[in-house]
Amino acid sequence: MSKAHFGLIGLGVMGENLVLNAERNGFSSVVYNRTFTKTEQFLNGRGAGKQIFGAKDLKDFVSKLERPRRILMMIKAGSAIDSVIETISPFLESGDLLIDGGNSEFRDTERRVSDLESRSFGFIGMGISGGSKGALEGPSMMPGGTKASYEAIESLVSRMSAQVEDGPCVTYIGPGGSGHFVKTVHNGIEYAIEQILSEAYDLMRRLTGMSGVEMAEVMGKWNKTEELSSYLVEITEACLRVKDPEDGDDLVEKIMDKAGQKGTGLWTVLSALELGAPVPTIYAALNARVISSIKDQRLSAQKIIQSPPIKPFDLGDPQSGMPILMDSVVLSCFASYAQGMELLRLGSEQYDYKLDMPSIAQIWKGGCIIRSQLLSRIQSAFNAHPALPNLMVDPWFASEVNKRLSSLASVVAGGVTSGIPLPCMTSTLDYINSYRTGRLPQNLVQAMRDCFGSHTYQRVDKEGIFHTNWIE
Ligand code: 6PG
Repeated sequence: MSKAHFGLIGLGVMGENLVLNAERNGFSSVVYNRTFTKTEQFLNGRGAGKQIFGAKDLKDFVSKLERPRRILMMIKAGSAIDSVIETISPFLESGDLLIDGGNSEFRDTERRVSDLESRSFGFIGMGISGGSKGALEGPSMMPGGTKASYEAIESLVSRMSAQVEDGPCVTYIGPGGSGHFVKTVHNGIEYAIEQILSEAYDLMRRLTGMSGVEMAEVMGKWNKTEELSSYLVEITEACLRVKDPEDGDDLVEKIMDKAGQKGTGLWTVLSALELGAPVPTIYAALNARVISSIKDQRLSAQKIIQSPPIKPFDLGDPQSGMPILMDSVVLSCFASYAQGMELLRLGSEQYDYKLDMPSIAQIWKGGCIIRSQLLSRIQSAFNAHPALPNLMVDPWFASEVNKRLSSLASVVAGGVTSGIPLPCMTSTLDYINSYRTGRLPQNLVQAMRDCFGSHTYQRVDKEGIFHTNWIE
């Protein structure tokens, strides 16, 4: 057998699909899994008759790969990655390249890149988005590491990734852990949009009693608009249409209302806190998952703390796609992208990643979970102003915000009056209102800080640093 182009470690569903994707694109592969029976099952099943070969151990695996070796690890993030690196590295040779395609914490990737580079191997931390279908058909890929390492995988990943009108959904993101940093922020935006659509569903259901199919019809209309056409709206429509085969009821109503999470949303918020990036919509989505998970407490509390009665308010005509509700969803999605892009910009400055914002918008246009038509507008906004401080001040976004803000305010007010929690929509309204307010009340915060701690303050009417003895 001639040596294979590409190696894959970890035959979970993502790993299997990525290797089938690589093979379909002309790259022969060797696969390794911790349990060999899994490898055999794959080779005799989905991998049968293809240019995909198996290896029983890592030494054998490495020996079957052409040089420089390109090895993608699709294994659980965390210590498992370090342990595979340690086990495989005695068999590697200078210039060989390991790629971590999982959702690793970007600082771990930073450490691994410098460690492996110092041992003359290459290491790429590559965010891969698109779920199992994307892995098979073409995901969005966010590789970070040295430019030389990226060049060694460019032909492979540019063929494997999703393709949009202006190219493949992969680009060199930047040095160190930048690929995983960008993927983490992608996931923060993903959390926010999932929560926003869930809030819209809750409003439709609780205020109008619409059925799953009726709500799906509204989502279908949204998915035909420039502002909301997206993968997440598309799958929300699909989920709302599915019936429980046992009794024909809407299946979504049978699902326990406790959201899980694997960590990337938390890391997005932690990074934002560290970098001083305001991400209230994303944070609200994370927090909403946390509160959802304490179901027992919520069930007890609902017997103790009374809710005001629901006072119906206008979401707009369903036949026209509930325009008032749609405006609220649109602005909350704008805010999610704006906050994510701002976090990327600040991270790029802090970590010297030199992120190219239009390219990031471009590679998110296909394959990934947050792909949407809006990303073309985001790409254009950053092309026009690479140092745009906030997406919402781009002329197109600003005019959309101005047109839709009163709808968002009326929906949030309606939710507040009726006791319906709308964490992302409410946070978005506060975010926009704060961002567009030239004079905020933090002058009083400064006065208090100076009063009890002599922290000093600046004045609006003259230059300098001031301190006052506020209490005699
Ligand atoms: C993607 C997704 C994926 C992520 C899941 C689960 O881009 O394909 O982001 O990488 O693992 O969405 O994330 P949570 O379990 O944290 O919701």
